[in-house]
Formats: sequence, C-alpha cells, structure tokens
Amino acid sequence: MSDPLRVVVAGAGRFGELHVRAWQEAGARVVGVVDVDAGRAEAVARRWGVARYGTGLSAVRSAEGVDVVVVASDESSHSALTDGAIDAGCDVFVEKPFALSAAAAERTAAAARAAGREIVVGHISRFAQPYRYLRSALHDGMLGTLWATRLHRDFSRSWFADFGDRVHPVWESCIHDIDLAVFFHAEPAARVFATESRAAGDAAPSVISAIVEFASGATSTIQSAWTVPLRGPQSLAGLLALDGTIDGEAQLIGSLGTARQRLIGDALTVWTDDASLTPDLSLWPEEDGRVGGALRAEIAYASAVFRRERANSIMPVDQAVWGVAIAEAVVASSATGEPVSL
Ligand SMILES: NC(=O)c1ccc[n+]([C@@H]2O[C@H](COP(=O)([O-])OP(=O)(O)OC[C@H]3O[C@@H](n4cnc5c(N)ncnc54)[C@H](O)[C@@H]3O)[C@@H](O)[C@H]2O)c1
Repeated sequence: MSDPLRVVVAGAGRFGELHVRAWQEAGARVVGVVDVDAGRAEAVARRWGVARYGTGLSAVRSAEGVDVVVVASDESSHSALTDGAIDAGCDVFVEKPFALSAAAAERTAAAARAAGREIVVGHISRFAQPYRYLRSALHDGMLGTLWATRLHRDFSRSWFADFGDRVHPVWESCIHDIDLAVFFHAEPAARVFATESRAAGDAAPSVISAIVEFASGATSTIQSAWTVPLRGPQSLAGLLALDGTIDGEAQLIGSLGTARQRLIGDALTVWTDDASLTPDLSLWPEEDGRVGGALRAEIAYASAVFRRERANSIMPVDQAVWGVAIAEAVVASSATGEPVSL
C-alpha cells in the first residue's frame, strides 16, 4: 500500500472541519490545520488529533512535507491560498468558488500546469449520484441533443446575513448551478444575461436570475434565491453544523428526452415536535460512522488524481475556469443591465 497523502486543511470553519474528518477517513494524514483565526485552527486540530496548526501555511510546513492543501476558507481567500500552495509544490483541492475572476482563475490554472501540479475544484454536485447519472445519460445519448437546462436553488433566508453576502452571492450558491450547467452542456458560454434583486431588507442582491447561452446555441436558465423561510424543511441537519434548507431542482431538455432532479424529495421525511426533516442522503450523509455521499466520492476521486492514478476528467480545471467566467459575467450583466459576450 502506498504512503498516505499528507494534507493541510486551510480554513477551519464549518466545512473545513468536515474536510479534516473526511480526508482522515479517506486514509489521508492531515498534518496541519490553518486558519487566520488562531483559536479555531487550534480547536479543530485538537478535536481531530492534528499535530500542527497555525495562521498560515508556513506555520504548519515541516520536514515531513505536505502533498496536498485543501482550501476551505472564505471565498475571497481561495485564489491566494491556491497560488501559495502551488508555489510551495503542493497539489490543491479548492472549495468552490475556484476564484472570484476569470483572470485569476486562468492565472492559477496556468501556474499549476507550468508547475505540473493538479487542482481539483470542489464542485460537489458532480459527485452526487443523480447528477452523475444524468451526465452519463447525456453521454450515452439517452436524451439526444441537450437543448436547454433549467436550474434553480433556494437557500435558507437565515443564512444570508451569516455568510450569503460576504462576497457577491453568485459565488456562494449560484456557482453550484453554473457548474452543473457547464457539467451538462460541456462547453464554454458565449453570452450571459442576468438580473438581480433584493428580498426586503437585504443590503446585497439575494435573488439572481441568469440566462446563459452556450457556443452551440443551447441555453441554461439559472435562478438562485436566499428566501426559504425559517420553517422550511430541514435538509442539512446532520454532519454540517448548519440547520436550514437547500431546495434545488435541475431540469434537462433534450431532443430525445427530458429529465428532472429535485434535491429535496418526499422519499424520506421525518416529523417531530421540534422539526420537519428531509435529511440529505446525497451530499454528506453519515454512513457507518463515516462521512459518506458525494463528499466521500469527491475526496476519493481527488486523492486518486493527486496520486497520479487517474486523470482529472470529471472536474477538469478548464471547466472550472469556464464556470468562473460565467459567474463573473452574471455579476457584470446584473450591474449594467446588458448581456455580456464571452
Ligand atoms: N461544496 C459545498 O457544498 C460547500 C458547502 C459549504 C461550504 N463550502 C465552501 O467552503 C468554504 C468554507 O465555508 P464554511 O461554511 O466552512 O465557512 P466558515 O465561515 O464556517 O469558515 C471559513 C473559515 O475560513 C477562515 N479563513 C478566512 N480567510 C482565511 C485565510 N486567508 N486563511 C485561512 N483561513 C481563513 C475563517 O477564519 C473561517 O474559520 C467556502 O468557500 C464555501 O463556499 C462548500
């Protein structure tokens, strides 16, 4: 058996801590935890038995070396942390968004190529079974030519002030559906038109509607909103310390067939005096005491890429760059009221 990958996790918040656990469970050796908040880095390192912690990558590098940096920090720090890890000779798993501009994404992708480093961007939906099935169905011709996709995602209203608007919200929630559009259509966008509005009291846009036209003429309509009320069904109660709802739907419209996938279904509902639950069984459910679902599949895939056991064909970096370009165009089109050509 080969040696375990030596991993540093940068960002010790909600999702970073889940990454520490999930990478350990995947057989990696998490050798360091980094957070600008020193107390958080220390607390997470202690909870998961990680020897080194600090406020920057240099604080946790040691003679034993680091193979992979997992970037799970605030969105605005992803580019700098990814670039720093590549400069240090590491491969990188970076949570969405890959970067906050197409220029930055292209620069990072080029630097990784030049250095022979691998980057896997954490677009988790690509590893969730229903979307994988749909991608294979498209590949096998079951739906014929893909003419259009309709994608929407509504998040809990209560999350918006917590983290939804710490960068433009397109980079938080909409980016998931932008990536699904890229995954299904598998081509770069030619033109983007978008509008945004604010639910009452919001300082930042909390409802985003976009039309993406691809080079072939196929289109994707994407809408994301942070409007699910407090008493929406709890879909995330579980491993992530975040109560609330993600209500998403994807529709594919092809020349030979159509398909529809809902993130929240009624196949499993649990009602108690305290809550109405529709537990997530797809993204990161606990299975036999371990993080399972799409997150486990994604980390197993990234580990194989980082070991050079397989090509990065499910989440190619070029497609992550296309997605960043679309998101940037959504922001620009919303600001000007004009379509943006890419
Ligand atoms: N793939 C998914 O479905 C999914 C789900 C949740 C979160 N995420 C992504 O994971 C990332 C983290 O989200 P979260 O919910 O854990 O946020 P969070 O606010 O709980 O944690 C972010 C942490 O990053 C730290 N941080 C900020 N700048 C840093 C820097 N330069 N270096 C090191 N640490 C830094 C903060 O101090 C904080 O502890 C975000 O990019 C988010 O988009 C992805």
